[in-house]
Amino acid sequence: MYYKKISCVLVAAAITVSGFAQPKKVAAPQSKMDQFVTNLMQKMTLEEKIGQLTQYTSDMALTGPSIRAGYKDDIQKGNVGSIFNAYTPAYTRQLQEMAVKNTRLHIPLIFGYDVIHGHKTIFPIPLGESSSWDLAAMEKSAHIAAAEASADGLHWTFAPMVDIARDPRWGRVAEGAGEDVWLGSQIATARVKGFQGAGFDGTTIMACTKHYAGYGFVQGGRDYNVVDVSQRTLWETILPPFKATVDAGVGSFMTSFNEIAGVPATANKWLVNDVLKKQWNYKGFVVTDYTAINEMVNHGNVANEKEAGEAAINAGIDMDMQGAVFAKYLKQSVSEGKVKIQTVNDAVRRVLEAKYKLGLFADPYKYCNEERAKTEIMSTANLDAARDIARKSLVLLKNYQQVLPLKKSGSIALIGPLGDDKRDMIGNWSGAGDWHKSVSLLEGMKAVAGAGVEINYAKGANFTDNKAIVDQMNTQGGDLVTDDPETLLKQAMDVARKADVIVMAVGESQGMTGEAASRSDISIPESQQRLMREIYTLGKPVVLVLMNGRPLTLQWEDAHFPAILETWFAGTEAGNAIADVLFGNYNPAGKLTISFPRSVGQIPVYYDMKKTGRPADPNNKYSSKYLDIPNDPLYPFGYGLSYTNFSYTQPVVDKKAIKTTDKLNVSVTVSNTGNYDGEEVVQLYIRDVVGSVTRPMKQLRNFRKVFLRKGESKEIKFTLTNEDLKFYDANMKYTSEPGDFKVFVGSNSRDTQEADFKLIP
Ligand code: BGC
Repeated sequence: MYYKKISCVLVAAAITVSGFAQPKKVAAPQSKMDQFVTNLMQKMTLEEKIGQLTQYTSDMALTGPSIRAGYKDDIQKGNVGSIFNAYTPAYTRQLQEMAVKNTRLHIPLIFGYDVIHGHKTIFPIPLGESSSWDLAAMEKSAHIAAAEASADGLHWTFAPMVDIARDPRWGRVAEGAGEDVWLGSQIATARVKGFQGAGFDGTTIMACTKHYAGYGFVQGGRDYNVVDVSQRTLWETILPPFKATVDAGVGSFMTSFNEIAGVPATANKWLVNDVLKKQWNYKGFVVTDYTAINEMVNHGNVANEKEAGEAAINAGIDMDMQGAVFAKYLKQSVSEGKVKIQTVNDAVRRVLEAKYKLGLFADPYKYCNEERAKTEIMSTANLDAARDIARKSLVLLKNYQQVLPLKKSGSIALIGPLGDDKRDMIGNWSGAGDWHKSVSLLEGMKAVAGAGVEINYAKGANFTDNKAIVDQMNTQGGDLVTDDPETLLKQAMDVARKADVIVMAVGESQGMTGEAASRSDISIPESQQRLMREIYTLGKPVVLVLMNGRPLTLQWEDAHFPAILETWFAGTEAGNAIADVLFGNYNPAGKLTISFPRSVGQIPVYYDMKKTGRPADPNNKYSSKYLDIPNDPLYPFGYGLSYTNFSYTQPVVDKKAIKTTDKLNVSVTVSNTGNYDGEEVVQLYIRDVVGSVTRPMKQLRNFRKVFLRKGESKEIKFTLTNEDLKFYDANMKYTSEPGDFKVFVGSNSRDTQEADFKLIP
């Protein structure tokens, strides 16, 4: 509504200034694609059009991939435009032939899949990768994923997930880039560029920005739950990464399962039609999430599936994932005048254009390449890249008295359910990945440490002894094995007693995070806590190696163990990458992109908080704080240690006051004062001291990842422009406001030094 008003005002202004209305623009000549699609659409029946808007899944039987008889029939009749969960060159060729050879208009299928963090070579989970703060590496991992997927028959991935997420109870924080809007937007862009490359030459795939929008804000962190956020939160926090991917040319969007303030995203005309398609001028197509149209009946905004389909397509949805609602009812809705044929045509055009851009009309089998699949999938180069980004993703949370790196001599006890585990290394959303090929921590440690170190392993504890959780996970395709807890503990204590150092690999099993894996208690499960408490009594140096898909509450662990390394689920090469860090072949430099709360009661806790009218004051009872814990998280956004130390000078600004057209240079000298060469992520934050609406205390605006040799110093220069100072003002206008600003530079969002400047009119 708001932008419409503005555009009316602008049109009126243009008329008054020039005295008469501007002449109508001459229509641009039709592109080849337009001509092709227009010709094709002229030949299509309504049924064939609806077919293009329909997507069904393929299945995986024990004997290999399979398609349900009904879907096969539908493909051959032209009632399906897309299949997902189907891959391999041979199988996709078989399905493609069904569509191309048997249908009247020979329109090819588009094959989609959740290629989330790698196809067969699995990279760290997205939250892990984001901790590398290495945009080029993230682009590269998406590029490799695309190369493998495209060689394996796929055209389209349902990634990146760009939901800003600040509630670690929500299992899907694992799939995104953390809590920050600015960094999240950069990472979203890098991932789109990585998947899509410079064009669809057959070695790249179409990306899909998801989940539009607000899914990261489900109440209580409970998956699929209600979302109710202000317009300000939407524009300031939720929407920017989505917009960034539109600017990066993303080919498709997926709506989210949740409602926002009473309207399910999949029926949200304002969100999809008005903002995405009109205001942002997005030209790609929009697919629903899995059966999200049907689920509107449960939401209660429609009475039945037919109405749900009408609400969806009228809101701007172009493709129905798995729900068959368009297939069943859209023809009737059109004949009743509930859906205009132009609306259907717009959707069909968008889907056909995507197929055209992918080159599928020119060659429907362009992505079915047995030779490429054989040579490129899990190539040595891809595995090397996976090891490299896995190392970059690890975050050293604590290293008291330099317990790490470990010596390549003596004896080590490796204890914990994740120590000799392959399945969990590749995390969830790694559908095509073969976990048998992943490197366990035990294997990695043995390979990297060499013969000089004796490493003995004991599982020590089950992931959890909570039968309800085990049963729930295992009935849904999980593979949690439970052994007798007492025997496990005894074995672990025997192994640990004989060792010089104990490495404990603890955390979550991969199924404890991801979709439909919300947790109300985000601590390490009690079975493993008991193990940790017992091991602690031995008084030996303990290194905790954490594997998990979300922030955990680690107050006890932080207080009792000298070294903690966060490794997420690091992918096919996890064991090697973690061992590289443990034994000092690689100096860790990862930084958290999401805060680790002290306790669940602090949630949501994130770094760009506002001050409130009663900022926390230990001497004032009536100030905004808890009685039992500090306000800040245990490990803040941007935090992560290195084996070396870095010192910072106070930042210096080259001007005390700037105009909106000026640039402000900020410089700081960073020195490596420790004993190792290493990398540091130098972070720059700003604060608008007084705004027409209240502003966060810090907002990330830039960073630089720098390598410094031992003893080396470097001057790091940043440039701030007016763009960096803008926000949605009291009238929701995106602008900067004159006044005082602070700029902070430092090693994480908590430890910074500051300088001041003014923006003058
Ligand atoms: C998830 C999506 C995913 C889709 C297809 C849904 O359950 O929410 O993120 O892309 O399934 O697998």
